[in-house]
Amino acid sequence: MKGLPILLLPKAYALRDSLLLDVKEWQAIARAGFNEHDIDEDGDSDPWWGSKSIRECQKFLGNVDNWDHDSVASSDFGLLWGTNINIHTAAIWTIIEIFRDKDLLSRVRAELSAAGIDGIITDHDIDKLLKFPLLQSVYAEVLRLRADIQSVFCSEREDIRINEWRFPKRSLLLVPTGPAHRDEDFWNTRDGERRLNKFWADRFFVYANDPRSGPRKKIVAQMDKATVYTSTNTAATNSPKFVSSGLSNSFMPHGVGERVCPGRFFARREIIAFCA
Ligand code: HEM
Repeated sequence: MKGLPILLLPKAYALRDSLLLDVKEWQAIARAGFNEHDIDEDGDSDPWWGSKSIRECQKFLGNVDNWDHDSVASSDFGLLWGTNINIHTAAIWTIIEIFRDKDLLSRVRAELSAAGIDGIITDHDIDKLLKFPLLQSVYAEVLRLRADIQSVFCSEREDIRINEWRFPKRSLLLVPTGPAHRDEDFWNTRDGERRLNKFWADRFFVYANDPRSGPRKKIVAQMDKATVYTSTNTAATNSPKFVSSGLSNSFMPHGVGERVCPGRFFARREIIAFCA
């Protein structure tokens, strides 16, 4: 919706305004009623703000120059939207994809039990989970296939030129992820065996001994060490590596540039923990 004329989306704008009013009302009530004594013994939850992270966020945002209570509410509304809408969609799809493929389900379970993780999640467990290649690949493939997002761009200072196209400055550009995420010229389909409109848990895997593996049509030659992990349950000689580098223009489930989703790391953490 960002920057789009209200006439194009009157219902969406009206809904957003009414949800935002709810957030403002909640925050006004919480501000008036909250008392430090209301914080639970665990030091986290309270009946007004809900959790320590929200209380800290209030404190932090309340100190930003020229921000009033309405600005803080708008910012928190974005946060609530991200945590409740985007994250749930991706989490549910991740579970659906894992459970509807028995083979994949047993591979995920094998990866978890090899690392001694049995459903109880501590922060340390989550750190471990984030290094599991199979969970990483499943999550990336869910985002590729299911996160159909429209990013909105606008150049304030100069026209943008892309090939034969010219986009005047200050005009809005809507960039849908769908065509990029399903671009046959870019993504590896193993010569059509693994269609791009279908889920393939191993799409982001590179096997050293399989030149047809890897997310790109061409083998990813330069793998970024920061995004490559070795599987815990596969023979070392043929361990798949999860690869997500070198995909930036074709894989952008969280948008790109300065407005890229600030909740993306939290989302990955929460969804992968939820699956486990
Ligand atoms: C898998 C889950 C998620 C997906 C697919 C997702 C995707 C996106 C996308 C595409 C954008 C817009 C980027 C742009 O305009 O170019 C965005 C923005 C945003 N996301 Fe997320 N998001 C997710 C989870 C979250 C979570 C968990 C949070 C909060 C903790 C969050 C908070 C935000 C906020 C505040 C913005 C606005 C940033 C800005 O305009 O400067 N998102 N997200």
